Amino acid sequence: MIRHATLRQLRVFEAAARHLSFTRAAEELHLTQPTVSIQLRQLAEFVGLPLFEQIGKRLYLTDAGRELLQASRSALETLLRFEMRAADLRGVKAGRLRVTIITTAEYFVPRLLGRFFERYPGIEIALKVANREQALERLAAYEDDLYVLGQPPEHAAVHAEPFIENPLVVLASRTHPLADAQAIPLRRLVQEPFVLREPGSGTRLAVEKFFAAQGMPLRVLRMELASNEAVKLAVAGGLGITVLSAHTLALERADGELAVLDVEGFPIRRQWYLVYPKARELSVVAATFLDFLRTEAPRTAERYLKNLPGRRAPQGRPDLLASEPGEPS
Ligand code: PGA
Repeated sequence: MIRHATLRQLRVFEAAARHLSFTRAAEELHLTQPTVSIQLRQLAEFVGLPLFEQIGKRLYLTDAGRELLQASRSALETLLRFEMRAADLRGVKAGRLRVTIITTAEYFVPRLLGRFFERYPGIEIALKVANREQALERLAAYEDDLYVLGQPPEHAAVHAEPFIENPLVVLASRTHPLADAQAIPLRRLVQEPFVLREPGSGTRLAVEKFFAAQGMPLRVLRMELASNEAVKLAVAGGLGITVLSAHTLALERADGELAVLDVEGFPIRRQWYLVYPKARELSVVAATFLDFLRTEAPRTAERYLKNLPGRRAPQGRPDLLASEPGEPS
C-alpha cells in the first residue's frame, strides 16, 4: 500500500519520472544508481503495479506511474509550501527557489542577487542559465519556480508579465569597414556573413524572424556557437557580423574590440518576461523574489539601460556603452 512509501521514495520517483532516466535521477539526488533502482522497485511493490516500462532503449511511465507522478508532485509541493509558510510564521522568509533565466538575462539578473540575499538571508536560489528551447523544456516539466524568458510560449498556460527591455543590436569588429558608417541600409548589411547563436536560441529566432519579415535572406556562417561570449569573440576575430542582445555588452569597454553598427531598423526592440506556470501556486519565497524583481529591477535597469549600447548617441550614432563626456568607461 502506498502509505508505506517514504517521502524519500516519492522524491526519487519524481526525479526519475521527470528525467525518464534512473541514471539522471541518481545524479541529481547524489545517490548511486542501485539505490535508486531499489527505492523504485519497493515503491512499485507498494503500489502493486509497475511504474515504468521500457520500450527499446527508452523508459516510459505507465498509467499508474503517471498518476503517481501527479500525486507525488502535489504531496512534495504541499510539504515544501508548508515548510516555507512555517518559516514565514517564524518571521523569516526562508526556503529554496529554483529560477531559470535565458542567456541574455545572465548579464542582468545576477546583479540583483546581492541585494536580495542581503535582505533575505534565509532564501537560497538555484539559478540555471539556459537558451530559449532548454528553458521552455524546463517550464513544460515544471522544473523551476520562476523563469525569465525573451518571449513567453504562445500556447502554454503561463502567467507572463513584461519585465525589462532587451534590445538586439548589430555587432562587428571595431576594425570592420562598416564600423563607422551611418544609417547602414539593411540590404547592405545582409551582404556580410553572419555569425549567429545556435538553433534553439531565442535571439537567433528573433533575428531570423526580423530579416524574414523584411524579405532579406541572411548569409549565416555554418558554425554553431551556443554562447553569447563565443559569438562575440568570433565577431571580434573578424569572422563576420552578428546580432545579439545589447545586454551581452554590459562588461565590454567602450573602446573594446566590438562596435555597435548603426543600422536602419535597429535595435530590434524586445523584452524579457517574468514567467511561471499557471498550474503552480507560487511558493512564499518565489512570490518574495518576484516582488523583489518587480520593484528593484526597473530601478537598477533605468540606470543601467541608459548606458547600454544601441541607444542613439546625440550625433545619431549608437556607440558601445556610450558614456558621459569625460567619464571613464
Ligand atoms: P537565448 O535567450 O538567445 O539564449 O535563447 C534570449 C531570448 O530568448 O531572448
